[in-house]
Amino acid sequence: MPIKENIDLKNFNSFGIKALARYFSSFTSTEEALEILDTIEAKQHSTLILGGGSNILFTKDINGLVLKNEITFFELIEENEDTIVLQAGAGVNWHQLVLYCIQKGWGGLENLSLIPGCVGASPLQNIGAYGVEVKDVIEKVDALHLQDKTAVSFTNADCQFGYRESAFKNQWKGQFLITAVSFRLHKHPRLNTSYGAIEAELEKMQIKEPTIKSISDAVIQIRTSKLPDPKIIGNAGSFFKNPSIPSAQFSSLQKEFPKIVGYPNQQLDLVKIAAGWLIEQCGFKGYRKGDAGCHALQALVLVNYGNATGSEIFELSESIIFAVQEKFGIKLEREVNIW
Ligand code: EPU
Repeated sequence: MPIKENIDLKNFNSFGIKALARYFSSFTSTEEALEILDTIEAKQHSTLILGGGSNILFTKDINGLVLKNEITFFELIEENEDTIVLQAGAGVNWHQLVLYCIQKGWGGLENLSLIPGCVGASPLQNIGAYGVEVKDVIEKVDALHLQDKTAVSFTNADCQFGYRESAFKNQWKGQFLITAVSFRLHKHPRLNTSYGAIEAELEKMQIKEPTIKSISDAVIQIRTSKLPDPKIIGNAGSFFKNPSIPSAQFSSLQKEFPKIVGYPNQQLDLVKIAAGWLIEQCGFKGYRKGDAGCHALQALVLVNYGNATGSEIFELSESIIFAVQEKFGIKLEREVNIW
């Protein structure tokens, strides 16, 4: 694959932010990735690996090499009476993977329908939605060590998954190029309809005996009703994480704000707060300055209405963090990677 120069990344990030990559190339196999990593451009500059670009905010041009992962394959690597292990190339579109599994009748990913991005990014931030996190089904992650150029395989435990967290995002940041992810899925699916919105949607759809297909349909319906389609309005899903605070702090906030939305975790004595609620209470829901805004139907999602710069979106996020801190004494953390 040739290395191109000064490529606009607007079409390579779901926020639709204009940013120039000094060097840009893509690869469709581990071998091709190794070839590119052996070039002068790669050796002399920092490397940014891009998948679907759906969890990144560019605030400046990238004075290095941007590598787009286009490794796409599916391989059934294990099968027993109850489960299968499917390996998927890191460049496979996430929702295509979900649809493929539903069509095969393999359960486990249906609650994660329609999440933008690629397979390779899913372990990085342990994507999650509607009562399921990808860590629940990840069997192993294959990667290339960028410095040593050696292939490594990580078990689920190695990845140290947490809420929107993994070792890839923390102590291993920038060290690995994920090439494939393997998922253990169920042939006789156990459905997860615990999330209230799914139950309500299934009822609306008049489905009494849900299947993985109907759960996927319900999730697609919920997501499209409140989350903006990045093809139409630039965004990267939830911009912030839902913060966890000590139960005691939650109780005192509840006295002042009786409607505050929180999900208690008794074991840890913490309460996870709906950040969207906090942001809405600070008056940002539907707010717009120039082309940077806070989505009108889900305040946790920041949007680019067309020509916002990454810095404008970032500044808006700063104002939100400041306002929430002032009103509630809670510090919001960004979920999206800032470059
Ligand atoms: N809420 C508001 N106002 C808002 C948004 C939310 O009051 O503008 C309150 C409502 O009470 C609502 C509650 O927050 O019932 C929860 O909202 P929602 O079900 O939309 O979920 P969320 O906590 O805002 C999280 C994930 C989403 C995921 C949904 C569903 C994070 C940071 N976000 O959002 O993930 O789709 O749950 O499981 O955990 C993503 O990470 O990009 C993402 C979209």
